[in-house]
Parts: sequence; structure tokens; C-alpha cells
Amino acid sequence: MHIFPTIADLRAYLRTQRTQGKSVGFVPTMGALHEGHLSLIEASNAQNDLTVCSIFVNPIQFNNPDDLARYPRTLETDCELLQTVGCDAVFAPSVQEMYPEKSLLTFDFGDLERVMEGKFRPGHFNGVGVVVSKLFNIVQPDRTYFGQKDLQQVAVVRRMMIDLGFQIELHPRPTLREADGLAMSSRNRNLTPDERALAPHIYAGLSAAKASLLGGRSPADVKAWMDAHFAQEPAFRLEYFEIVNAFSLQDVTELQPEGQTALCIAAHLGKVRLIDNIVF
Ligand code: PAJ
Repeated sequence: MHIFPTIADLRAYLRTQRTQGKSVGFVPTMGALHEGHLSLIEASNAQNDLTVCSIFVNPIQFNNPDDLARYPRTLETDCELLQTVGCDAVFAPSVQEMYPEKSLLTFDFGDLERVMEGKFRPGHFNGVGVVVSKLFNIVQPDRTYFGQKDLQQVAVVRRMMIDLGFQIELHPRPTLREADGLAMSSRNRNLTPDERALAPHIYAGLSAAKASLLGGRSPADVKAWMDAHFAQEPAFRLEYFEIVNAFSLQDVTELQPEGQTALCIAAHLGKVRLIDNIVF
């Protein structure tokens, strides 16, 4: 497996590979890899001749400096894991390499970013848009793989690819979970053991909410129920719980056609902010 800290070296490698007619799959990450990330690498391996994974903790998508400082950085272990699943190349640039100067371009995703993550993390999706479009231009993959765990990110990237005419196939992939339902996340390793034990409360709430909606309860009732569910566990601070269309991300007052109703949640547990969703 090759590890490239510079854009120029990665480009030179990819140029050679492409002249041999190889297709390229790309998985962008911020490292601290877990099985969820590795499932994206495996999906890419299955459909492409070679897979590139980027590892870059993108400072401009963090609106909270403490979150950026606390974000786990484990490059060596990450590379070992990537090797075990057969990743071909890792792009691990420095901040200086990616942003030799402050990026002046800004993205505004309109209604897609006025809700949920975009509402509570101002500037976050601008940072995602800048870094993902730059990475796409550097790697120029045939296909790219994103986790549904970040449903709003998938919606924003999908729209950005249409607006900018990227000729890349976007493959959203299902959320991998721990045995107790907790969505795998790099931030989980910042939970204390007590918090970790409480964390499945989030997915339990989502699952119960889905069952209630399918049973005919109204979105308004289910939202009230979720507030009560979190009121029982004072260790949490529920930031939002939204029932939205999975593509427009706008609130809905009734169930959507199959595969288009999304339940999205963000909650603080101690110092850690966790997000999760289910789509059905
Ligand atoms: P990061 O949080 O490292 O996630 C990288 C990719 O892994 C994203 O597409 C994310 O949705 C996916 N992922 C995370 N947890 C997952 C899980 N439990 N199951 C399946 N996939 C999961 O998302 C980012 O990085 C950044 O915003 C990035 C796109 C790299 C831009 O900086």
C-alpha cells in the first residue's frame, strides 16, 4: 500500500495507474478508522481496480475548536487497518498541503444546509464542500463511497456533484453499528465507559420512533415521545430530532414513499456530540 503526503506524488501515481486503464474508487475520511470506514473501502474494492482513501482532519469543517482539538489522530493504526482490507493508496496530506492559503471559495447549499447539522454547525458544510470538491479534483475517481451515517453530507455532496458536473458515481452505503446498536463513529472513543454504556439510547429511540410512525402515530406525536425518551436520561442533551424527507431534508408531516422517510438525531453525551439516523 502506498502512502502519499503530497498532491503531486499522488497525482503521479494515479496518472500511471490510469494509463494502464485502471478504474479508481475513492473513500474520503478523517481517519480514526473503524469498521464503518473499512466497509466503504471494501465496497470500493469490489467495484474498482484500485481504491484510494484520504485521511485528512479538515479544520475548516469544524465549527468548534475543542471538537477539532479532541478529534482522534491515529494515522499509523489507520494505515495498518487499510492494509488489511486491501486499500491501494492512502492520501494523508498536511493542513499546509491542502490549504497553502486560506480557501476563499465558499459554498452555500441553500435549504439543504439550513437544517440539522448545517443549522447547529454553522460553516460545517462549506468546509465539507471545499474539501470534498478539492479531493475529487485531486483524485479524479470513477466512483466515490460515502456513509449514510452522515445523511445530510450525502445529500449535500450529491447536490454539489450535480451543480459542478463532477463525472463521478456516488455510492451511499449503510451505517455499520456496534452489537448494541450504537452507530460506529470515530468520536465514540472519546466516550467514558459510563457514557458508552448509555449511548445505545440513541438508536433505541430511533428504532422505537420508526415503529411508532409505521404503526400510524403522527410525526408530531413521535417528536413529543422522543423528547420524553431523552428526558429520562439526563446524561444526554438532545440537540435535534427531525422527521424529514431523506433527499430534500425538509420536515414532513406524513410518511414518505418507501426509502424516503428519514429520522435524524443529534445528541450530546458528556463532551461528545453524536449523530445517527434511520431511513425507511
Ligand atoms: P469521517 O467522519 O471520517 O467519515 C468518512 C466516511 O465514513 C463518511 O462517508 C462517513 O459517512 C462514513 N462513516 C462514518 N461512520 C460510519 C458507519 N458507522 N458506517 C458506515 N459509514 C460510516 O465524513 C467525513 O469523515 C468528512 O466529512 C469527509 C467526507 C472526509 C470530508 O472531510
